[in-house]
Amino acid sequence: SSRLYHALATMGHGGAQGGSAAAAPPVEKFRKDYAALPYSIDSVDLDFNVQTDETLVTSTLKLTPTGGGPLVLDGEDLRLVSAEVDGKELPKDAYELGEETFTLHKPPSSPFTLKTVVGIEPAKNTQLSGLYESSGNLCTQCEAEGFRRITYFYDRPDCMSAFTCRVEADKKKFPILLSNGNEVGRGESGDRHWASFEDPFKKPSYLFALVAGDLGGIQGKFTTKSGRDVDLRIWSEHRNCDQLDWSLESLKRAMKWDEETYGLEYDLDVYHVVAVEDFNMGAMENKGLNVFNTACVLAAPQTATDGDYDRVLGVVAHEYFHNWSGNRVTCRDWFQLTLKEGLTVYRDQTFTEDQTSRAVKRIDDVRVMRSAQFAQDAGPMAHPIRPESYVAMDNFYTVTVYNKGAEVIRMYATLLGWPGFRKGMDLYFQRHDGTAVTCDDFRSAMADANSVDLTQFERWYTQAGTPTVTLSDKKIDGETFSLTLSQSCADTPNQPASEKQPFHIPVSCALFDKKTGKKVDEQLFELREASQTFSFSGTVTGSPDDYVVSLLRGFSAPVTAKQELTQDELLFLASNDDDSLNRWDAAQQIYTRAILDEFTGDAGKGDSLDAAVATFRAALNDKSGDPSLRALNLAVPGFSELGLKLDDGFDPVKLCEALSSVKKALARACSTELKEVYASLYSDAPYDVEAASVGRRRLRNACLANLARAGGFEQQSVKHYEDAQCMTDQLAAAVALAGEATKEREEVLGKFYESAGNELVVNKWFALQASADADDALETVKKLVAHEAFSRTNPNRYRAVVNTFAGANPRAFHAADGSGYAFIRDEVIQTDKTNNQVAARLCGSFGTWKKYDAKRGGLMKACLEEIVKTEGLSKDTFEIATRSLK
Ligand code: PHE
Ligand code: ZN
Repeated sequence: SSRLYHALATMGHGGAQGGSAAAAPPVEKFRKDYAALPYSIDSVDLDFNVQTDETLVTSTLKLTPTGGGPLVLDGEDLRLVSAEVDGKELPKDAYELGEETFTLHKPPSSPFTLKTVVGIEPAKNTQLSGLYESSGNLCTQCEAEGFRRITYFYDRPDCMSAFTCRVEADKKKFPILLSNGNEVGRGESGDRHWASFEDPFKKPSYLFALVAGDLGGIQGKFTTKSGRDVDLRIWSEHRNCDQLDWSLESLKRAMKWDEETYGLEYDLDVYHVVAVEDFNMGAMENKGLNVFNTACVLAAPQTATDGDYDRVLGVVAHEYFHNWSGNRVTCRDWFQLTLKEGLTVYRDQTFTEDQTSRAVKRIDDVRVMRSAQFAQDAGPMAHPIRPESYVAMDNFYTVTVYNKGAEVIRMYATLLGWPGFRKGMDLYFQRHDGTAVTCDDFRSAMADANSVDLTQFERWYTQAGTPTVTLSDKKIDGETFSLTLSQSCADTPNQPASEKQPFHIPVSCALFDKKTGKKVDEQLFELREASQTFSFSGTVTGSPDDYVVSLLRGFSAPVTAKQELTQDELLFLASNDDDSLNRWDAAQQIYTRAILDEFTGDAGKGDSLDAAVATFRAALNDKSGDPSLRALNLAVPGFSELGLKLDDGFDPVKLCEALSSVKKALARACSTELKEVYASLYSDAPYDVEAASVGRRRLRNACLANLARAGGFEQQSVKHYEDAQCMTDQLAAAVALAGEATKEREEVLGKFYESAGNELVVNKWFALQASADADDALETVKKLVAHEAFSRTNPNRYRAVVNTFAGANPRAFHAADGSGYAFIRDEVIQTDKTNNQVAARLCGSFGTWKKYDAKRGGLMKACLEEIVKTEGLSKDTFEIATRSLK
């Protein structure tokens, strides 16, 4: 359905009143407008008749009036074949079809049955929402609002129904037929066969799933703590079936962990994971039948990096955990998305902390917060973890809802302690099992289980933006060390700083004695006011300057912590703090100073680069330290994080140059140590994913990257590639060579492509070139787009090139002549026609335009204006572009 949105763009939101006649205004929905449904759909029986082009979907709904009035169901891109109520075909004037609705004017006033037959065309569904084709197989994606592209329904999460489903299809082409719940029937006739399913749990439509295809797979078993045997099945295209073992192992670990940690057990006899090549997101938690992007399932040493293994572990666990936090207890409306996502991300993060390394995982997660989430908070798309309005819900599957949402959950655990948090979780599941609830219900469960008042804590759900916590005053009174903490939060869209109320912030702090290096005390301060004074216990003497405060330990709240620290104090924390996160953070601050001094031209004046070199060298020389942590301590902050530290109006390319100049300087200053450490970490032991091996590779490859940066390491990089026994090492070598047009680069990239073991490896080949900090980057990317293996319809492939360029190649994207911007603008416009979710995300790349110098900002803004003017633009992209322009 193509619509014109450009007429509205110039009027902004709410300006729909006088829109052009042709344009259906994109409707903005508000959280405050929630109203309960006037009918319940008690049960739904679906029948899918899969034909060559069209699939016929017969839906039989049992409805009960709960308020009465017209029945308005959602529906999109459906061909209505017939409609009947209680067995009688409806006369034409009894109902009305809108662009996105089916309205039954006068439904019966007692329970009734509505049966509709619609036709849909999965092969033409390039949006990958609803029922679509991927590599010839059929699968569904219904969250958030995809079920309405399958049949007419109340496509919203507070409509919970009992589902049965029958699928009939060609036996040869679709030997495997799956849907949610238990298979209850099966049969065949001629070249067709069918299967029917019954899901014993009521669920909202977004959790419905169906798969039909020619798939292979592996099988496993898990016995739950109460003795139920669960049949575990991982499915994918036949050629991928040798890469499924790790996801099965991950699933088993997740099932065990959830029993041990939360007492939560699986509730069906079978659990399916289906990996498909074409998928907009990472994976989907459909009840008993998860559908996954292959990128989050497949793992084998030759094709997946250590990072990929971690992603599979985390995402498999995430979707599994949703069975309770999301499915058994679901969301009342989509504004509550963080209820299930923030909670489930918190659960998967802590699971991974337990399975791998707590310190490393925490740093990895904090990096995402500081680079991506803080950037979102600082831009035009800033929203509270529970947004107030949306045009296209798909646009609100964000790092704020997910990752900041997880930090908010973590704060409950920090404030209440583990036993208190667990009591709150138990009460939450006990109270709300089988229902659709709100973030307020979650907060009440936490408060009630612990008899505490969490009223002020609600502000984390209502106010957008990253608070800043400043340590402003340090004092010693008698033998007591006290400090003053104050908080503020910058303007965000529709929320001026002056109207924001103080947050309830857990600030974990420790006090260190500079002379002895010892920790004097550690406290969790609860900052609730604009400014408050707190004291450490433990006796102190002398002046406050004899002590150093370690602030916001473990990143105890999603805030920016600020205190004036001298270079020496940072160096002190970088080596003495017993909180690994803050030790790492001190090193990050040292690197940041060096880069920002280089950027502003103050480099010669201070000793910031010397301190950075000392920090870098210390990480290299810390022979007894955890190799993964050492590698993290060698990594300087990235472009996005640094940009947040600069005032608006800066030149982004100049920042890239300062960044790469400091990186080079560090590598050159320490090249001897880098070579030493690099050589010492060689191993020809067989591949495994144990923490020790992962750490060894991480540190060795960090050395390689730095040696490549220092220059003259091409031949060793080729050797690194040749010697590599696994994808982690191969990819590291290819990345090390990607930045410069050398014959070694051509040689290794050629081999990499030739020997690629699966499509995901080909994606890596595309992505590593699209992100290469090379002078010929845009030229390369244009060649990649023209490459025979490029695809506009496979989101993984497309994003590997185009989104990678826009998001991970700042020097080329921000080229002064606007060539990078023009390329992305054209991609947004073209891709919006086939996959508007992918296009809308890409369009987000222009959201930072106000941060840059007038020339760049102007060019980026012009791209947004051009996009908004495009005829037939999707509401997804329209929303991102118009919000960005404000
Ligand atoms: N609910 C999925 C998850 O987090 C994400 C998703 C959203 C997938 C929308 C597809 C579509 O786990
Ligand atoms: Zn999720």
